[in-house]
Amino acid sequence: MSVDFNKIPTPCYVIDEGLLRNNLELIKKVKEASQIEILVSFKAFSIWRVFPIFKEYGLGASASSINEARLAFEELGRKAHTYSPAYEERTIADILKYSSHISFNSINQLRKYSKAAYDHRVSMGLRINPEFSDSAYDIYNPCKPGSRFGVTAEQLGDQIPPGVEGFHFHALFEADSFALERLLAVFLNKFGKYLPKLKWVNMGGGHLITQKGYGTDHLIRTLTGFKNKYGVEIILEPGSAFTYQTGYLVSTILDIVENNGIKTAVLDVSFTCHMPDCLEMPYKPVILNGTDEMAEKPTYRMGGISCLAGDYMGNWSFDRELKPGDQIIFDDMIHYTTVKTTMFNGVNHPCIGIWNETSGFRLIREFNYQDYKDRLS
Ligand SMILES: Cc1ncc(COP(=O)(O)O)c(C=O)c1O
Repeated sequence: MSVDFNKIPTPCYVIDEGLLRNNLELIKKVKEASQIEILVSFKAFSIWRVFPIFKEYGLGASASSINEARLAFEELGRKAHTYSPAYEERTIADILKYSSHISFNSINQLRKYSKAAYDHRVSMGLRINPEFSDSAYDIYNPCKPGSRFGVTAEQLGDQIPPGVEGFHFHALFEADSFALERLLAVFLNKFGKYLPKLKWVNMGGGHLITQKGYGTDHLIRTLTGFKNKYGVEIILEPGSAFTYQTGYLVSTILDIVENNGIKTAVLDVSFTCHMPDCLEMPYKPVILNGTDEMAEKPTYRMGGISCLAGDYMGNWSFDRELKPGDQIIFDDMIHYTTVKTTMFNGVNHPCIGIWNETSGFRLIREFNYQDYKDRLS
């Protein structure tokens, strides 16, 4: 049975529990078959009231800030594997308290905090930069020339600094297992000589394991082959893969306006506030019951509720004319979308809910004036 959207108050992000569990099940299978650690990267998803579901699958978390590390500790019941481009003196003690592993972005940062990490018995890693990526998007390429991420093979020299037990790299974006294989070939060529000194290698995120057609058998073979040959623990920390295609942003049309022959459905949601990746990437999301523009069908631009002139996307076609009160349902709006929202213009944040076959829709959180007011002073 699919989600009964009529019963859902809008605007609302709706997680489909069945779809989420399918993803978690698949990721758990890969983890068990390859005997590696797979962590959920909180930067892509941190709706913590659904963490009890994640706990059932025995998965840990990767954090990129003090707040994410604390959330892992308090709400997932696990110490985080933490990486940040730099750590601050005022928060490092807490980060170490909430982390089992910490990766440093530079030799300077490692030198500065290695004694503290050692004292807290946190396993220390160094982010390395393999200077490889096949991401088609510059904004998602952490290895492009001039990148601030990680230490290159040339900078590292012959020895790994004392105390370092692991390497961390992140170079992929929505990639398949063959991209990982190519990345590992480059990694081994540049950094393979250090492996006998290491306990673990964190191969970052960007593994879109739950995408239809992803070859999990090949991934498992690649990971077990690497592990058996080099005798290191392997960690993956995908974000998107966990909540990829697991839910929707449900909105309502408030008005229809027309200018120069262009009809715009003005919604109770905003692209810039509630679907920022659509404008940033940019990409055109799927609307259920809508199609890409077709000349013979009623066609509309979708307009956001903010005052930003560019807060719109277009065009979609529908089987019939749209009218105020109709729902517009955007697909695949959970990973990254939910963590990146803003309250720009004071627009209300969509509520958050979860749907499953037995209980139907359950509202998790609503937002109000106080949430808006509390953000900025
Ligand atoms: C260090 C690191 N790890 C993991 C991830 C998660 O990547 P993804 O959501 O593409 O799997 C990111 C994403 O930016 C990252 O920067």
